[in-house]
Amino acid sequence: MFVDLQPADYQPVLPSGPGYGIGIVGCGITVCDSQAPAYKKAGYRVVACCDRIEERAHGAAANFGRVLVTTELEELLSYPEVQVVDLAVHHHQRLPLVEQIAAAGKHILSQKPLAPSLREAERIVEICRDAGVTLMVNHQARWAPSHRALKFLVDSGVLGHIYAFTHVFRAYQDFGWYAEREDFNIVDHGIHYIDLSRYFSGYTPLRVKATTTMVPGQSAVSPMIYTILFEYQPSCQVMTTLHFSNIVSAPALHDQFWFLDGTHGSALLSDPAGTAKLSLSFKDSPEQVQTFEIAGSWEYEGFAGSMGEMLLALEEGREPESSGRDHLVSLRMAFAAVESANSGEGVEFGG
Ligand SMILES: NC(=O)c1ccc[n+]([C@@H]2O[C@H](COP(=O)([O-])OP(=O)(O)OC[C@H]3O[C@@H](n4cnc5c(N)ncnc54)[C@H](O)[C@@H]3O)[C@@H](O)[C@H]2O)c1
Repeated sequence: MFVDLQPADYQPVLPSGPGYGIGIVGCGITVCDSQAPAYKKAGYRVVACCDRIEERAHGAAANFGRVLVTTELEELLSYPEVQVVDLAVHHHQRLPLVEQIAAAGKHILSQKPLAPSLREAERIVEICRDAGVTLMVNHQARWAPSHRALKFLVDSGVLGHIYAFTHVFRAYQDFGWYAEREDFNIVDHGIHYIDLSRYFSGYTPLRVKATTTMVPGQSAVSPMIYTILFEYQPSCQVMTTLHFSNIVSAPALHDQFWFLDGTHGSALLSDPAGTAKLSLSFKDSPEQVQTFEIAGSWEYEGFAGSMGEMLLALEEGREPESSGRDHLVSLRMAFAAVESANSGEGVEFGG
């Protein structure tokens, strides 16, 4: 089989005009290094930047010409040009800010994970619903071209019935706030791959099994390695395996892979920092491997794509993909994995 995969098949759809006014709250590393440059390149209308540390607000604002720069959330919320708040503070800081932002009638694109507990995340979803504002969670990995290319293949059916979704991740984040955050690797970083497993397969698991380990000399308060298995209804005939090692000391061997195995063929995505490569091989011509270089990154297309989805959803009056409600499912899966790793037992999920 020969697959004709074109960039138009997997590049995210971005809004055509600058659209709604965006106010950024929390101008730390992810905003200054990735989100703000992506919004600048995409031509989004960022009108205000707020951080408790003024120089960080200025750092983000430097991407956008004349914008309101403030250390006070109240000042940003009273600025009529702000219609959407990009909330990029840490999960434990979000709830009181969401209460204020939703009460001011502004829509929210929040960084993931929404909250440090499921109950708090549900409360955030309720607050936004009751205030009539849209809440989306920034799962920008769904808009990364490499992941959209895989999703395009899944939806096209060329691989046949996909019976195994397997992810392998290798990096090093045993430093900074990552190391201080309890369950960081599953709940904060790993939620990307948990969420992608739902995005690719379309299934919610029946049962979650996970195992983790600490490694010698690690600084992090929680395990740096995990493996999570998602089991589904037997009729789905599919299994997901997520393996994550975030303390690989050899950067040359950092990478991440998705293997999708189907009844007609297999796909392998290798997605190190830089250009992702997608390889395909089919049962009917096993000697052939087709390889595509996938242009684009999590940092630009990913973040431009997720904010683009928020702006398009508001324009079209619909719930965005990866809404707050949708995120609760991925978050439940993450907490179920932590519970399973802690108890040594499978956790019934009920999907
Ligand atoms: N989607 C991704 O790929 C990705 C990548 C990295 C981080 N993140 C998420 O983004 C969030 C932030 O991570 P980071 O690495 O940028 O953290 P960071 O500590 O660098 O930035 C957080 C910023 O929020 C500011 N802040 C806190 N409370 C505030 C308030 N009340 N008003 C205004 N500003 C306030 C802090 O001063 C700080 O500058 C986390 O939830 C993290 O999980 C997501």
